[in-house]
Amino acid sequence: MIIAQISDLHVRPRGQLAYGVSETNLFAEHAIHALLRLDPRPDCVLVTGDLTDCGLQEEYAIVADLLSRLPFPAYAVPGNHDRREPFRQAFAQSGYLPDAGPLNFAVWCGPVRIIGLDSLVAGASHGALGSETIGFLEETLARSPDAPTLIMLHHPPFNTGIAHMDATRLFEGAEELKRIVAAHGQVRRILCGHVHRSIQQMFGGTLCQIAPSVGHQVTLDLRPDGPSSFVLEAPEFLLHRFDRGDVVTHTAKVDRAPGPFPFILPLDYPGRSQDISSSALGPDTHDE
Ligand SMILES: [Fe+2]
Ligand SMILES: [Fe+2]
Repeated sequence: MIIAQISDLHVRPRGQLAYGVSETNLFAEHAIHALLRLDPRPDCVLVTGDLTDCGLQEEYAIVADLLSRLPFPAYAVPGNHDRREPFRQAFAQSGYLPDAGPLNFAVWCGPVRIIGLDSLVAGASHGALGSETIGFLEETLARSPDAPTLIMLHHPPFNTGIAHMDATRLFEGAEELKRIVAAHGQVRRILCGHVHRSIQQMFGGTLCQIAPSVGHQVTLDLRPDGPSSFVLEAPEFLLHRFDRGDVVTHTAKVDRAPGPFPFILPLDYPGRSQDISSSALGPDTHDE
């Protein structure tokens, strides 16, 4: 079971750049191609918010078209750059979103429970989980206590040290989220976006993982007064691989790189001892 995660596409109307610089539509297209190249194929892909840059219908039409090219399901939560109703309309045909209210949902991907939470505060950059959403989370977790579970929401519930992003993290509902997750041992990950970097922290006894963006990244600047800025570092995404209920998370590059090349050991390689050469690896190969 492999579950891919892409985040923060920030798609714009055709021909427009995000912030006048970032070719987010091209980046998003590259991300779809990267997912299509994966072997083995993921069982589904999770999209952790900011699908569009401004929440425009035209932007959602582009995202919906891109995701429709994937031969596996896509499940998305909204971010602060999204707008709830155009988001709902754009993905209504997929059937996993409610007809009204917060865009919370619960789906199965094989044996894995996926819970999407709507942390969007209309007209604001920061995130919140309202009482309806907190209730939905608690009820859903109580219904399947033994299923390995991923919770996805856009806004991370912890400080990263990138000050201007911490000012727009999840505030309302963060403590309730921690309490609920701590009481439900089946939660394997809390998956977020928003910060456009790969960042992890333990939260409520599980790993909270922020995904990098498939487009531009937020500048790694840990100064308390660091300005809001982004860099065109390599776009990345995540792969969550389940094995009997445990999950391992890989960070993957969207773009192709030279290789793969075989490991061919030089004759003077120090690991070429009797111990190694008599192992299952054989004398001429090495697997790392
Ligand atoms: Fe974003
Ligand atoms: Fe965001």
